[in-house]
Amino acid sequence: MSKTILITGGAGFIGSHVVRLFSNKYPDYKIVNLDKLTYAGNLENLRDIENHANYIFEKGDIVDERYIKDLFSKYNFDGVVHLAAESHVDRSITNPMEFIMTNVVGTVNLLNAAKDAWKGNEDGKLFYHVSTDEVYGSLGDTGLFLETTSYDPQSPYSSSKASSDHFVRAYGNTYGMPFVISNCSNNYGPNQFPEKLLPLFINNIRNGKALPVYGDGKFTRDWLYVVDHAIAIDKIYHEGRNGETYNIGGFNEWTNIDLIKVLCKQMDIALGNAAGTAENLISYVKDRPGHDKRYAIDANKLKNELGWEPSLQFEEGLVKTIAWYLGNKEWMDNITSGDYQNYYKQQYS
Ligand code: NAD
Ligand code: DAU
Repeated sequence: MSKTILITGGAGFIGSHVVRLFSNKYPDYKIVNLDKLTYAGNLENLRDIENHANYIFEKGDIVDERYIKDLFSKYNFDGVVHLAAESHVDRSITNPMEFIMTNVVGTVNLLNAAKDAWKGNEDGKLFYHVSTDEVYGSLGDTGLFLETTSYDPQSPYSSSKASSDHFVRAYGNTYGMPFVISNCSNNYGPNQFPEKLLPLFINNIRNGKALPVYGDGKFTRDWLYVVDHAIAIDKIYHEGRNGETYNIGGFNEWTNIDLIKVLCKQMDIALGNAAGTAENLISYVKDRPGHDKRYAIDANKLKNELGWEPSLQFEEGLVKTIAWYLGNKEWMDNITSGDYQNYYKQQYS
């Protein structure tokens, strides 16, 4: 059945993989990608599908209430997959207000527009809110985040995401808004902005620059290949139950320092350098304020209910990821010129 779906943040890292998957898999759908094109949004990520007949790009800001209302009038959306956000924890520490505006106010603008557009006609409609495991806070050495784990966000970023999750559930409860939420662990893969650990370190190794490891490096994250996240989003969008939350994760925990050492080894191989070359660049630096110690996701609800599992083993995903960044140096060089240099100086000097 044909549908018109609004995907927000589709020019970003995860959003571009979701747009590509939906556009390729559902030729009968109309996919509208709404993105403000902040520093993190890049239309280069979508070059291969930009001429598809079922794809439309709209440049706009989810914080602009009038614009969002007009967009919902222009298109008769059947669904929203909401990914647009400020997404980097370090930036949220420097500038929390940007996160409140986009992640909280922007989400409520979208909810209001969807509520008004779908009023009395909610059948077949869906507001899919893409969220993060960081809303659950930080774990000790054991335990996993379940969908029922209480929220305990610790950074301005995770607080803004937690707030937006609460608003989505409140609109479901109060106005009967059909919704699903997913909370995913750390993504890696092609097209990630090089402020995040893996692309930052890949780029620094390529350029012989220091690898800034925060604190003692013993912080733990669960890593998932971005295409597997997009596949999970597709599954949940089409088969998830109204009002439910699904955790998405890679069943793949690493301490940062162990992950970085594996990355260094693979980078030496990929660049044809002597073993140990990249590891010599490791430099322990001041810790991130309020740094969450450990995230770990139990994704068994998604596995058992909808039959989703990560398709890629981590080592395979990492090799593919390195190959993509080394094969797309121009993509990296374009986004690391200009403003990125100022960000880097401010964050790391
Ligand atoms: P990203 O920073 O790479 O991309 C965000 C996109 O949103 C960019 O294209 C940007 O231009 C756009 N955007 C930002 N502000 C906007 C605004 N006001 N109006 C319209 N567009 C705007 O982020 P990402 O890593 O792809 O994350 C996407 C979503 O997934 C976010 O909601 C994030 O919280 C969530 N998430 C990310 C991860 C991860 O590991 N990256 C894990 C779990 C959940
Ligand atoms: O868990 C999901 C979240 O994962 C998403 O919601 C966020 O949008 C995404 O940015 C990511 O958050 P993290 O803070 O975990 O990702 P980041 O890549 O910034 O950092 C990963 C780990 O590496 C973290 O423990 C901090 C550490 N780190 C990061 C950078 C950028 C360093 O040691 N040095 C660095 O320079």
